[in-house]
Amino acid sequence: MSPISVNALLELALDLSHSLTSDDRFSRLLAHIRKAIRSDAVVLLSVQGDYLKPLALQGLSSDTLGRRFGIAEHPRFQQICQSQSPVRFAASSPLPDPYDGLLLALEGDLPVHSCMGLPLRDQQRLIGVLTLDSLTPGQFDDIPERTLEIISAMSAAALKNALTLESLQQHASHARAVVEELTQEALTKDGGELIGDSALMQRLKQEIQIVASSGFTALIQGETGVGKELVARTIHHQSGRSNGPLVYVNCAALPENLIESELFGHVKGAFTGASQSRAGKFMMADGGSLFLDEIGELPLAVQSKLLRALQNQEIQPVGQDQSQQVDVRIIAATNRDLQQECDNGNFRSDLYHRLSVYPLHVPALRQRGRDVILLAGFFLELMRRKLGLQQIKFASDVMPWLQQYDWPGNVRELEHCISRAALRARSRQHQAIIVIGRSDIGELHSSQPTDRSLTDRSPTVQETDATSGKLAIADTHTSLKLATEDFQRRLIIQTLQQNNHNWAASARQLQTDRANLTRLAKRLGLTVTRQLQQDQPI
Ligand SMILES: Nc1ncnc2c1ncn2[C@@H]1O[C@H](COP(=O)(O)OP(=O)(O)OP(=O)(O)O)[C@@H](O)[C@H]1O
Ligand SMILES: [Mg+2]
Repeated sequence: MSPISVNALLELALDLSHSLTSDDRFSRLLAHIRKAIRSDAVVLLSVQGDYLKPLALQGLSSDTLGRRFGIAEHPRFQQICQSQSPVRFAASSPLPDPYDGLLLALEGDLPVHSCMGLPLRDQQRLIGVLTLDSLTPGQFDDIPERTLEIISAMSAAALKNALTLESLQQHASHARAVVEELTQEALTKDGGELIGDSALMQRLKQEIQIVASSGFTALIQGETGVGKELVARTIHHQSGRSNGPLVYVNCAALPENLIESELFGHVKGAFTGASQSRAGKFMMADGGSLFLDEIGELPLAVQSKLLRALQNQEIQPVGQDQSQQVDVRIIAATNRDLQQECDNGNFRSDLYHRLSVYPLHVPALRQRGRDVILLAGFFLELMRRKLGLQQIKFASDVMPWLQQYDWPGNVRELEHCISRAALRARSRQHQAIIVIGRSDIGELHSSQPTDRSLTDRSPTVQETDATSGKLAIADTHTSLKLATEDFQRRLIIQTLQQNNHNWAASARQLQTDRANLTRLAKRLGLTVTRQLQQDQPI
């Protein structure tokens, strides 16, 4: 037999590189082998522990694909697996044939026939076996060694690629499953349900349903603490991308010089400290949604890059020349009046129009009537579970008390208020059913709607001692954590007052940065809104 021709080899290589799936690649490989070496059956098997698993075959009954051959049980396979080179079995070999009765060309036992096995190795590691059978005795005797070497190498490479691809696909689907699990968990954490059936909330829920399925960019606006983030999560969850990731970016919390790389990623060496290439949030959200929280805080320079990404569904990592395609749905939120920000020159109006394809307004809690009761019940049940209580409820005069208040910090303020009240009530009572009284709720201060630049609603906090300028200790019977938080709250208020509500100046005085300060203020339940008469917005 003549050696395998260069043309045949080239054809095989090209054919393999064109195949998309492993199954296709294997059947093309076997077809080429049968063209080069006349045989009645060819089988490609992969090593799985002590077994050989057929991956593709020609000439044998298809049920063979479901069989697993124990290597130790089949002496022919054992010999092939132990060998470093192709093994030819003489027609007179007394060793039993693993394919006895399986050959399509023949009913019953295999008569005297030729048989050959090629061990397939990746470096030294055995990864598979290729077997060839022919009913013509001596069929494989004069195949040049070089031809067998080439066929072994090509088959091993195809098998190795398929195994690598399979393991990558397994990793990717595992990662996807983890993302789905985490997205689901984040959504259902503490309920995940938008509580409220006031007319305004019903309308909002309808709009969420419409926008969710549309795939449009959504802009969520509303006062602080109204539930904008929860609305964003609900949109993602109800959209066709719910199995994809929901990636969160707080535009206010990132230092200006890092935002671009955070959003779009960077390549190694793009700037000092970029020792590794890093995917940005856009890339992470590919196939899912990107939630740009506090979008009103985005610096103008980054706004124009974001606009480009939205227009072209294309991003350019910092330091990279080419751009990359991404498939991301944007959900943005802000408690600023973006139209006003555009008029003031703080926000690009083209970006604003691009974002507000479907604007949603989340109403303030004071506009939602009896929703306060539903939400109070919802948060109370959450606290019952968190504290492991049998039962906890409100005294009869508490609900009217909660309803008469206008909740400038909205749902978040209500949530904090109920959590604090539940803790207080529990520390006083030891019976199975804990009752929250008016005293546990404490004072609820009515807001000044015209100037609510910063409102501290914590009932345990006393105002700063204005005459001495000192921060007094609020309550000596409180825990260290609560006392520390009280102190931080009052220190921030005092510093802001001293600095004319200028956050940057206050942050400097407190030796922290502005983003950290606003984040801390929010965590402490301080209501942060814009001071209109200030030239620097907060
Ligand atoms: N309708 C609602 N049902 C149940 N929980 C809610 C609802 N609205 C808000 N919450 C809860 O109130 C808290 C504040 O909501 P969220 O963080 O979504 O507000 P936000 O508008 O994003 O606030 P900010 O402007 O300060 O970022 C969260 O714990 C959220 O789960
Ligand atoms: Mg938010």
